[in-house]
Amino acid sequence: MNPMPARPLDGHIVLIGLSGSGKSTLGRLVAQKLRLPFVDLDRVAEEKLGMSIRQIFERKGEKFFRDAEAEAARDAVLSPGRSVIATGGGVVLRPENVRLLRENGFLVFLDRPVEAIVKDLVDDLSRPLVTGAEKLYEMERTRRPLYLDAAHRVLRNEAGLAETLDALVALLTPKAGFSLESGGKLEEEN
Ligand code: S3P
Repeated sequence: MNPMPARPLDGHIVLIGLSGSGKSTLGRLVAQKLRLPFVDLDRVAEEKLGMSIRQIFERKGEKFFRDAEAEAARDAVLSPGRSVIATGGGVVLRPENVRLLRENGFLVFLDRPVEAIVKDLVDDLSRPLVTGAEKLYEMERTRRPLYLDAAHRVLRNEAGLAETLDALVALLTPKAGFSLESGGKLEEEN
């Protein structure tokens, strides 16, 4: 983990982690709580290309998807104001994505036990790279170091949703050097 955000005061909040780690669910909820806009990069790519993630992979290939993902990440994190951004699990595969996100956002790695993810996702056909339990274990092994390296903070997601949401909000409160006074405006404590 690299705890020092480059721009702690005005950056976007960026959630990273494996598929099924809770980025979209928790991202939407924390955005509501903080009264910030919510951006889901997979949905942005789907809308822009008029295809589902699975269709993009099948018709255009992974490189095409990664280019679209990189563009969506760049646009989101360079947009003015502040938002909560849920990334796709593979966003950390390109160092350039990580550099841009870290420079303009506060990155939280949602670290959910892979066994729980396997239970939820093994029958989910919407994720083309998740071809089975073994693949998820392998992704966890190869990507964990990338998530840890990219993150400003790590949040273990193994309690219930409500508890993890509270913990995520707490991460962004004065104890961590931030204040959520004034409607989600992140301010440094002096
Ligand atoms: C991917 C994760 C997916 C989606 C695509 C590739 C990955 O997003 O971007 O299927 O490489 O791990 P989620 O993390 O939202 O499932």
